[in-house]
This record gives sequence, C-alpha cells and structure tokens, in this order.
Amino acid sequence: MQDPKRYTITAALPYTNGPVHIGHLAGVYVPADIYARYLRLNDKEVAFVCGSDEHGVPITLKAKAEGTTPQAVVDKYHEIIKQSFQDFGITFDNYSRTSAKIHHETASEFFKDLYKHGKFIEETSAQLYDEKAKQFLADRFVVGTCPKCGFEESYGDQCENCGTSHNAKDLINPKSVITGNAPSLKETKHWYLPLNEYEKWLEEWILQGHKKDWKTNVLGQVKSWIDDGLKPRAVTRDLDWGIPVPVEGAEGKVLYVWFDAPIGYISSTKEWAEKTGKNWEPFWKDKETKLLHFIGKDNIVFHCIIFPSMLKAQGSYILPENVPANEFLNLEGNKISTSKNWAVWLHEYLQDFPEKQDVLRYVLTANAPETKDNDFTWKDFQARNNNELVAIFGNFVNRVVVLTNKYYNGVVPKAGTISEADQQAMDMMHQYPEIISKSLERFRFREALSELMNLARLGNKYLADEEPWKQIKTDPERVQTIMYVALQIASALSVLSEPFLPFTSKKLKEMLGLDQKTDLRWQTVGPDKVLLPADHTINKASLLFAKIEDAEIQKQIDKLEASKASNSEVTVEPQKQTISFEDFTKLDIRIGTILEAEKVPKTKKLLKLKVDVGIDTRTIVSGIAESFDPSDIIGQRVTVLINLAPRKLRGVESQGMILMSDTQDGKLSFIEPVGDTVANGEKVS
Ligand code: 2FM
Ligand code: ZN
Repeated sequence: MQDPKRYTITAALPYTNGPVHIGHLAGVYVPADIYARYLRLNDKEVAFVCGSDEHGVPITLKAKAEGTTPQAVVDKYHEIIKQSFQDFGITFDNYSRTSAKIHHETASEFFKDLYKHGKFIEETSAQLYDEKAKQFLADRFVVGTCPKCGFEESYGDQCENCGTSHNAKDLINPKSVITGNAPSLKETKHWYLPLNEYEKWLEEWILQGHKKDWKTNVLGQVKSWIDDGLKPRAVTRDLDWGIPVPVEGAEGKVLYVWFDAPIGYISSTKEWAEKTGKNWEPFWKDKETKLLHFIGKDNIVFHCIIFPSMLKAQGSYILPENVPANEFLNLEGNKISTSKNWAVWLHEYLQDFPEKQDVLRYVLTANAPETKDNDFTWKDFQARNNNELVAIFGNFVNRVVVLTNKYYNGVVPKAGTISEADQQAMDMMHQYPEIISKSLERFRFREALSELMNLARLGNKYLADEEPWKQIKTDPERVQTIMYVALQIASALSVLSEPFLPFTSKKLKEMLGLDQKTDLRWQTVGPDKVLLPADHTINKASLLFAKIEDAEIQKQIDKLEASKASNSEVTVEPQKQTISFEDFTKLDIRIGTILEAEKVPKTKKLLKLKVDVGIDTRTIVSGIAESFDPSDIIGQRVTVLINLAPRKLRGVESQGMILMSDTQDGKLSFIEPVGDTVANGEKVS
C-alpha cells in the first residue's frame, strides 16, 4: 500500500501476570513506539493501541501461587505496567485492558457473529482432565513432551522450544501443572475455528502476496505451519476466568485467551475513539488503513494465522499489512525468565535510572533482536552510553551550544560565504530524513538509529575539521558561518532523534529554543527550511547524557547475581517418588562413545548421534544441540539408557537416551566415566 490514509498500530497486549521487562521492550514496545512517533512526525493519522491481556491460564496460575484472586493479580500488574510504559515515553493513543466492559462486549459480539454465520465447528470430545483439581487441563495448565521436537516441558498450547502451536491432547506424557498428576480424559463440548479451511487462502495471502515485504523469520514460521497442515483450533475453554462463551449450552466455559486478546486491539481502538470523539471503524475496516502488528516471535502464529483467519471469517475487517516480529533478547547470556527473576524490570530500571529512559531506549534499539536473538549486558549498556551517547551525540551538541553562548551570547550568527565543506555538510544533513525513513519503513530500527548517530558524527567531524575554537582568533567572520552550519546540524538532530530518544529531543529543542515551535516535522529538515535562522536566541547548555560509572553498573550486575543465587537454591528439584529395586533393575544403562553427530534439520535442540554402546552402534536423537556443537562431541564418552522403547523424533527413530545433567548456567553436561579403563557396553548399576 503506497500512501495509506491512516495507520492502526498494535503492540502485543502484555500478560498481566508480571511487570514488563527489557525483552518485551526491545521486541515490541520500543520499535512500535518509534514507528508511531515517526508517523506522527510525518503528519500521518495514527491509532497506536495496546492494553493489558488479563485472561488466560498464566494469570490464574499466578493467583494460585500468590494465594489471591486473578482479579487482584491483574489489578496490581495493570497499574504497574501502564505507569511504567507512560514513564518510559511509550506513546500509546490508548492503553486498555481486556477486563474492560467494552472489550467483553466486543469479543462476545465477535464470537456471536462467527457463530451465527456458521463459522465454527461444535464438537464434543474427550479432553485432558485433572481428577484431583476437578478441572480440565488446557494451555498452560498442562506440560508434557512436544510431539514435534521432543522438548519435555512443552505447554499444552505451545512449545516454547520449537514454537509449534498444538492442542493439549497432542502432548506426550502430559502432566497437570496444578497437582502434578497424569490427567485422565473427560468429554466436553467446544467450538473450533476450522483453520484448515483458511490454509489455501493464508498461503496465497502471506506466502505469495507478502513474500517480498515481510521479514524472513515471520515468513519462515508461517511456511512451516502451513507445510505441517493447519487443524481446527478450539476457541473456547473450560475455565472460570475469562469472557463467558455467549451462546446457549456453554455454561462454565470461556473464550480462549488467544481468541479474545487480539480482539483487544479492536476494543482498545473503540475505547480511544469514544474518548476522543472519533470513529473507530475506518481504523479497522477501511481498505486504505495500514494495519501493523508489533509482536515477539512467540506470537507469530496468533497474528499471522489465527487472528487473520478470524478477521477473514468475520468478513468486514482489514488484514495486517505487515507483522514485524522480533526475535528474543537474552540477558547476560541467559534467556530472560519471569519465574526465575532473570530480567531487568522496567519499573525497577526507572527507579534506579529515573532520568535515563533514552539510554535504555537507545541500547535496546541499537541491540534489537531484529533478525536473531541478541544479548543485553550491563557492560554494553554502559559502553554504549559512554562511548556513543555521551561521546558522540552529547559531545557534539554540547560543543555547539557552549561555543554559541561563548562567542555570540547565544544568538545564532549570520552565515557568510559558504565553503565547499559547509555545503557538503549541509547537503549531507538534508539527506538524513530520507535515509532514516528508508530504514524505518522497512522496520530496520537498528539501521535507522545508526544513521541518526551518523548525523551526530557528521556534526562532530565538521567541527573537528573546521576547528572554530582555533579560527576564532584568526578569522572570526569564518567562525560565524561554521557555527551557523553546526547549529543547523544540531537542530536537525533535535527533530530526527524524536522517535528514538524523545526525552533527549525535548531537552535539545529546549536548549536550542525550538520547544515553542509547533511546526517541527520530519521534513522540516530539508534544503527549503532553516530551523535556526540568524538572530534566533538559544539557551544555555545543559547535559544531555551523563557518563555512567562502573559502580552503578556493578550494582545492577550484583542485583542479577543475587537473583541467580536465590534461584539456584530453589531450582534443585525435590526427590521423586521412591521406586522399588526391581523397578531400578529394569533400566539397562551402559557406557558408550559418540561416533557421529549431526543436527536434525529444522530443529534447534536435536542432534542425531551414532553411538557405540558396546552391544551395537545405534542412532540416538538427543536434545543437546543448544549445549554442544556436533563437531565438538565426536569421541565423547557417554552414559546411555539403552532399553528405552524406540521412538521417532522428527522422523528419526531414536534407540535410547543419553543421560545428561543440567548445569547452573542452563546448559547440559555429559555424565562420563573417569579415565579410560571403562569399555563401551559396560553396565552402570
Ligand atoms: O505473549 C503475550 O504476552 C500475549 N499476552 C500477547 C497477546 S497479543 C494480542 F493478541 F493480544
Ligand atoms: Zn517443540
């Protein structure tokens, strides 16, 4: 779509079972906010909507863990999240919540509409049931082995390891999260959206229609789901927390959280329209509206397959033009984990660094996990602040403002003869709106930010080449022109930095006396307009960025270390139920040696191994690929359970199991005999 009339920008509704952390920010909220701010600066009509995702199993589990009610959980976190987004400068036009009346009504209507038009399959079937808890086990109430990749802690609705979305009944060895018991089966009625009927249409719409403009990570996931074949998906649940299913015969059932949550984007838009006297409908129904979903990679299936199928089934809604999903951000080399408190929480960051929103915005953008998972480290945070924000951006602005005050009492001097170097610098500066736009419009936020920094570098280089502080003694007239040019570069920075560093942009505009100007736009930085004309008065210099000292960083590292230490105490699993000696003797465990190793294609975790176990050489598929490189483990001595019933993993039959031990850093470690006197095939007993 070339020139849409308006934009609807959605940012994934955060689950309200905990605060927001840097992973959420880097993946979703910072890029979405940059984009929305950029569009507004270009005079586009934008509805940037979000809200708290307050239904679903994680919230009921949190309530159980805290001995409170789901409502109390969402009330608490909704406030924390909303406030921290605001303090961080995320400019949602509306931040709603899915417990709001308007959302319950909108989601119910949506369901009823599809129901009335026969878009669901109604089916009674046996589902997993926890006899002790007297509860059906869907989604995160049940864990088990992923049928696709063999990951043993997969949730009922989605495997966090391979990203596959499945039905709870597909899990191998399911276990109730509430009681730890193996579930039984019990009949229950549910409504299913027949995704299989949308498969061909999705294939054409995304894989053919959008193959050039969508990110490869998104297309890759969509392709893999479509290749695997889509199945009908239940959109209702037997739960007491959620939106009641609004049809007869559905007592005690609620809408599946992933059915209601994306409709939350629509209800948030409605809420905003009600508050502002606008009409919400064009934002969702006019074909000239560009709809964009900012999400993390774990949400791709819901935004590219399920929600579009819902919208298509309803018939009157537009579909997303793009879904620029990001990968994950790790923290100091480890996966961010809410339950393990391995995270930098936004509300805590804002307490510890109350004036440094832009530093975090900068680091998370410069390091955004756009095409692959990335790592946040406190040392990198410090280095980027000190070596980039302070040394490049801050330094340039400071020199310009200090010198203008010193030489001209803060009054912008008149430019004299423009030299080739002056012209070159200004020509370059005038290209930046276009250069940065190009990157932003392709959702390349890292690239866009680095171009913004190149503009600051241009300013620094210009000053270093022209040396006004030296020339002031010999050619003060020339210095007037130099400072005039440098001031224009600083003013361009104040405008173009706004989407990325809004607090800095505001301060800089104040310093340059531009804060009262209401007509500053992206395209104001161009050859036809002078932002700081001669005789305009600027203000005194104030610090844009301050150096961050080692002690402040050490404090943050210590805080993380402390949470790791307190976690390591609780991560030692309790002893399992006792077994008889006879049970133990059934296990045939032998020593072996890995002879060959290769990755199982399209999996992250699995390696296909050839292992000499003394009796024979057999194929074993093992979930160790994230801890070891195939080439590093040839010749590795291993301990193998050889009489485990063979099972197929990703089409490869595995004839045994390599026994591994977990380590504190989340990797795996082999269990091997000491010395080389133990031959392959020796028993472990
Ligand atoms: O992954 C999550 O945090 C979900 N709560 C995202 C929901 S996005 C949307 F569809 F509402
Ligand atoms: Zn899996």
